[in-house]
Amino acid sequence: MTALRVPGDKSIAHRGLMLAALAAGTSRLGNVPDGLDVQSTQRAMRALGATLHVAGDGALIVAGCGGAFTAPAGPIDCGNSGTTMRLLTGLLATRAIDVTLTGDASLQSRPMRRVAGPLAAFGARIDLSGGGTAPMRVRGNPDARGAEVAVTVASAQVKSALLLAALGAHGRTRLSGELATRDHTERLLRAFGVPVDSAGGMLAIEGPAVLRATDLDVPGDISSAAFLFAAAAAVPGASVTVDDLGLNPTRTAFLDVLRRFGASVDVVPHADGAEPRGSVTVYGAPLKGIAIEPVEVPGLIDELPLVGVLGGFALGTTTVRGAAELRVKESDRIDAFAAAARALGIAVDTAPDGFAVHGPAQWHDGDVVTHHDHRIAMAFSVAARAAGVRLQLDDPDCAAVSFPNFAAALDAVL
Ligand code: S3P
Repeated sequence: MTALRVPGDKSIAHRGLMLAALAAGTSRLGNVPDGLDVQSTQRAMRALGATLHVAGDGALIVAGCGGAFTAPAGPIDCGNSGTTMRLLTGLLATRAIDVTLTGDASLQSRPMRRVAGPLAAFGARIDLSGGGTAPMRVRGNPDARGAEVAVTVASAQVKSALLLAALGAHGRTRLSGELATRDHTERLLRAFGVPVDSAGGMLAIEGPAVLRATDLDVPGDISSAAFLFAAAAAVPGASVTVDDLGLNPTRTAFLDVLRRFGASVDVVPHADGAEPRGSVTVYGAPLKGIAIEPVEVPGLIDELPLVGVLGGFALGTTTVRGAAELRVKESDRIDAFAAAARALGIAVDTAPDGFAVHGPAQWHDGDVVTHHDHRIAMAFSVAARAAGVRLQLDDPDCAAVSFPNFAAALDAVL
């Protein structure tokens, strides 16, 4: 069986680009994905004064501006990317800059108070549009003092925005509360030479911090590979290996979920850099329904539509609870999932914070409305391929936000 590769990890790439743009000196970032979301971050970093170019071997060379961002010519368009907008808000909150951030229709409907509220602790002035959304004007405070902030939403984007703001504040910033989310910001800050103290369930940073330019190789995105793993898992006898994949423990919960459904999963770790990596093989099997508990949700947040799809292949009921956050992703991923599932013959009930799928589905051909949400488009492409039914997507191209060659990769699995 030949091993596949998937695009570099989006979460790691956004952070690597922002920290390289902030650092003094030149960083080299290998395997930066070319999906539209990461392109939005690249454009933003250029607009703020960093210089980016692609080397002969494909690596991205970033000459940082040593903390002195320059005022962009106009608003920064973050496209469809919530991570770009929320992390950038934090990055700019303690800098001498006045910037307007905007995005596409989906991004302009997503909640931004969750970052603007806590960033007020640094004295940043952040003016949101009427519904607490973008476009938003960020006026940073370069005289900010370190702050004590309790994080109340289990969101890596919120935690990261605060850590990035702390880099420009004077003195110690300490975060407490909902911090058990993906930890790429903490890891990459250390790689750029910034000590991050993570004792006792808190996070602390001393500012102002000077970042040392560094070289990073971005591992494959496990949230993209998850679609290929689900395709193999749903079909007994099928299998897929994905090589050079990020295996950060805050991102691998879906592998355990596959095992609980009844699939087999082999993991071979490789040498670690700033982020753990390795290769993963998934073997399909007859599946049985499982229950996802609220405590598991932050570790699976982007994979939950796939959990629902796998529920359609499983015997018995699959439930997801405690996942109201799904309602404020690129689409309302509870309602979008349920409508798409029903269109293909999956029986599903929804709740304010999750859904229940009663499997196995009575599969049939169907038309699916993606709401221009890449993960809905890919999850139901997997469902239709594994079930052998015909799928019509209203926007098949939206997968390019995170996985430009998704269709070819799925063809290689099933
Ligand atoms: C991300 C965090 C998650 C995730 C998103 C990427 C990140 O969002 O859904 O795709 O890179 O920090 P939340 O932290 O808001 O849950």
